Amino acid sequence: MATVRLRNLRKSFGAVEVIKGVDIDIEDGEFVVFVGPSGCGKSTLLRMIAGLEDITSGTLEIDGVTVNDLAPKDRGIAMVFQTYAIFPHMTVRENVAFGLTIAGAPRAEKERKVAEAARILQMEHLLDRHPSQLSGGQRQRVAIGRAIVRDPKVFLFDEPLSNLDAALRMDMRMEIGKLHQNLGASMIYVTHDQVEAMTLADKIVVLKDGEVMQTGTPMELYHNPANLFVAGFLGAPSMNFIKVEVGSVGPGQATVRTPALDPIDVPTGGRSFKGGDKAILAVRPQYLTPTAPDAGMLHGTVALTERLGAETVIDVTLRDGGSIIAAIAEDRVLKPGTEIGLSFDAAKAHLFADEALHTEPH
Ligand SMILES: Nc1ncnc2c1ncn2[C@@H]1O[C@H](COP(=O)(O)OP(=O)(O)O)[C@@H](O)[C@H]1O
Ligand SMILES: [Mg+2]
Repeated sequence: MATVRLRNLRKSFGAVEVIKGVDIDIEDGEFVVFVGPSGCGKSTLLRMIAGLEDITSGTLEIDGVTVNDLAPKDRGIAMVFQTYAIFPHMTVRENVAFGLTIAGAPRAEKERKVAEAARILQMEHLLDRHPSQLSGGQRQRVAIGRAIVRDPKVFLFDEPLSNLDAALRMDMRMEIGKLHQNLGASMIYVTHDQVEAMTLADKIVVLKDGEVMQTGTPMELYHNPANLFVAGFLGAPSMNFIKVEVGSVGPGQATVRTPALDPIDVPTGGRSFKGGDKAILAVRPQYLTPTAPDAGMLHGTVALTERLGAETVIDVTLRDGGSIIAAIAEDRVLKPGTEIGLSFDAAKAHLFADEALHTEPH
């Protein structure tokens, strides 16, 4: 178990800077997820921690010791990749023991540790098989087993579930959560999938274009996103962004309006606005409730209904031509063309400056 500290960490490939001064603290035993869209630098950052990429500048500490120039094998880390990276000509037993074999570990120790990993991962019955005789989920378990036997201070996972089909991904996600509970080890897990981040993490680090957008617990980020990017990235369906104009501004709140929305008071979340500002009001689809057409705060026509079972998602065309998504927790059929109103608790809305979104949310 260990702490990991990243201080102003930077990485350039030639003239292109892809990690632009990142500060992250990982506490002992914490499960930290780096999440962000493809190409934002997640794998590069993880590989820098593993020692598979040089650090251009900044410091990386593991357990209080600067490890920038330490070889990967001396950092006390073990990494699990999306592509498993297991050897086809070796049995599961040999694959799991591989790191110990390389290190010249005594036979008895190898047997004990492989048996322990196989027990934790419930794959005792697979030990004599070859990888070609395993499913994708079982192969990934072998890769995780190989990490466990090394008894690392920190586990690193780079999108370990991305090659699995949806049902298996959910099973394996839960297994990785249990593995963390059982081992209590520090884990850093990289994914582009906000559901994996929300479900697994003690702490989420949202990355965009090589920079940290926000760090916090899943619920802190979900309920108090610091910017439009985080607001749009976490949660499904994505938050609604409504263009509004700011009217009067009071302590901690502002009155906003738009042709589609009656004037309402919303919290400003510590951000500063002045009258006449253009701004974005962000509202989660789950917080919108259908009302009679002329009741509620927003008014429009149902364009599309999607029944997902536990919730129904409706796409409403507002009277000003804008579109808004509501997720209602009931099996209610609203036919396209139906006129409706929508209301929401203004205290649960978020107001952001109307900056251009450089990257589209997923
Ligand atoms: N070896 C490399 N040489 C040059 N550019 C690279 C290299 N590896 C990654 N990059 C670039 O760095 C950026 C971040 O990549 P990566 O860390 O793989 O993103 P992610 O894992 O978030 O999808 C991308 O623009 C990618 O093209
Ligand atoms: Mg990657």
